[in-house]
Amino acid sequence: MSLECFDQEVFNLTNQELKRQCEGLEMIASENFTLPEVMEVMGSILTNKYAEGYPNKRYYGGCEVVDEIENIAIERCKKLFKCNFANVQPNSGSQANQGVYAALLNPGDKILGMDLSHGGHLTHGAKVSSSGKIYESFFYGVELDGRINYEKVREIAHIVKPKLIVCGASAYARFIDFAKFREIADEVGAYLFADIAHIAGLVVAGEHPDPFPHAHVVSSTTHKTLRGPRGGIIMSNDEEIAKKINSAIFPGIQGGPLMHVIAAKAVGFKFNLSEEWKIYAKQVRSNAQVLAKVLMDRKYKLVSDGTDNHLVLMSFLDRDFSGKDADIALGNSGITVNKNTVPGEIRSPFITSGLRLGTPALTARGFKEKEMEIVANYIADILDDINNVNLQKEIKQKLQVLASNFIIYEKAMF
Ligand SMILES: Cc1ncc(COP(=O)(O)O)c(C=O)c1O
Repeated sequence: MSLECFDQEVFNLTNQELKRQCEGLEMIASENFTLPEVMEVMGSILTNKYAEGYPNKRYYGGCEVVDEIENIAIERCKKLFKCNFANVQPNSGSQANQGVYAALLNPGDKILGMDLSHGGHLTHGAKVSSSGKIYESFFYGVELDGRINYEKVREIAHIVKPKLIVCGASAYARFIDFAKFREIADEVGAYLFADIAHIAGLVVAGEHPDPFPHAHVVSSTTHKTLRGPRGGIIMSNDEEIAKKINSAIFPGIQGGPLMHVIAAKAVGFKFNLSEEWKIYAKQVRSNAQVLAKVLMDRKYKLVSDGTDNHLVLMSFLDRDFSGKDADIALGNSGITVNKNTVPGEIRSPFITSGLRLGTPALTARGFKEKEMEIVANYIADILDDINNVNLQKEIKQKLQVLASNFIIYEKAMF
């Protein structure tokens, strides 16, 4: 029986979401469009298999085939990140990070990460996350110019003496200097952990400096700039750390791995290893450059005055509207973004004075510089006259026409 016959409610809602994804413009920096082939294997019979353990060391019978699949995912992941070890089992980026901490730290140990309000992630020690509850967390941030001041990180690290330093961010538009972070980590005897969830797709294409050989351990999501299925991965070149990571993930924090997702990760990695991938990643950055330039030409302030990667951070500290107002106005025009705090923030995290915009999803649809220029100008038009609901409706119609020339999926189910 088809899903349509079996459960019309969920079928209809899935199609409604397909329409939303196709008609609107997705500019949330952490979102992307994965391949139909990735979705095909994710929706396969592999979901039925229990395979606690690792290839050739399982706690269940009948794992010969899924062992091969997991080994392919591991080998491709290692090739992609040019490293000796990969664990492809984490169910998400957060669980990957939880696994790294569990492997390298004891409860109460000190960690130093980027402040959530400065662009870090919840799992980098925020007090509401288990990373901030189990471990004693300290933070570095960005300066008013929107950049990490590595001398300040060094000063804080020398005072705190953390056991682990986390670098990597959710909202940082500039290259991360992994070598500098390692220098600091070595000075205080800390592990360097690079969470490259946001930039992994650029890293593997040579569009962002590599975290290896600087980081002791690296984690990522597979669904952001990598365009694979939703999930996490952990990599290292250190044999002792590798052993600890494997036992921290299973049996430490997870049970049976999601074999359908691991297979989908393998398919995604195949795409990431292709020549086509390099072209995509280059275009993501080039589109972000165009977005940044047009917005600045239209007199909008960007945190750090530009971008090196896939995202731009707009600051409205000099405007009489908030990030939330901008988020709503763009949403009314079918442009999905998210509000974000900015350096020197004066508003609450629910209101904010900034906006985070990314180009990975539009680039996956085939948008190039010409289309990005059009979109960026529409964004500025909307924000210039933020209370003009009629203009928002008018632009929404124009953007639907533009989007219809870049069909990403013909159907919701594969
Ligand atoms: C830097 C960073 N690390 C980790 C994560 C967590 O990933 P997930 O949402 O898969 O748990 C995110 C997600 O936004 C992120 O931006």
